[in-house]
Amino acid sequence: MAILKIARMGHPVLARPADAVADPAAPEIGRLIDDMIETMVDAGGTGLAAPQVHAPLRIVVFFVDGARNNGEKVPLTVLINPVCEILDATAETGYEGCLSLPGLTGPVPRARSIRYRGLGPDGQEIDRIAEGFHARVVQHECDHLDGVLYPMRMPDLGHFGFVEEVRRRVASEE
Ligand code: NI
Repeated sequence: MAILKIARMGHPVLARPADAVADPAAPEIGRLIDDMIETMVDAGGTGLAAPQVHAPLRIVVFFVDGARNNGEKVPLTVLINPVCEILDATAETGYEGCLSLPGLTGPVPRARSIRYRGLGPDGQEIDRIAEGFHARVVQHECDHLDGVLYPMRMPDLGHFGFVEEVRRRVASEE
């Protein structure tokens, strides 16, 4: 296990579409997944995609804290070659952050409900329906596999900024 270096916005590895994993059972894929989880936990992230650790492969890891998802907790999940399908395209806007844009946050519209599928690390099929924050996390992570970072999804950059400043501004507006 190792903590990997996280690529920041502007690095070309974040801008290219990632490649499908040819052999999900390969030992090096298992090692990469272990390292991704360790790196995400160390960095305090909710999700991480393989391109963020300089591995241009279609793998994401994430978990969802119940407190941020109407009480519904989603345990640590690994998806290899995920496919994300929009079930309800109604846009919901929420603030996002990303380990590749440290210290920054901004409001991003995301589809309200999705179905996602992929392979788990032990080769089992994962097939879930997600809504709200859970759906947001998965859409954010799967975007990384297509070279898309959350500011590219923001129709208005007027509320994009550093976390401390945005918090202060939001608090003063309340
Ligand atoms: Ni991200």
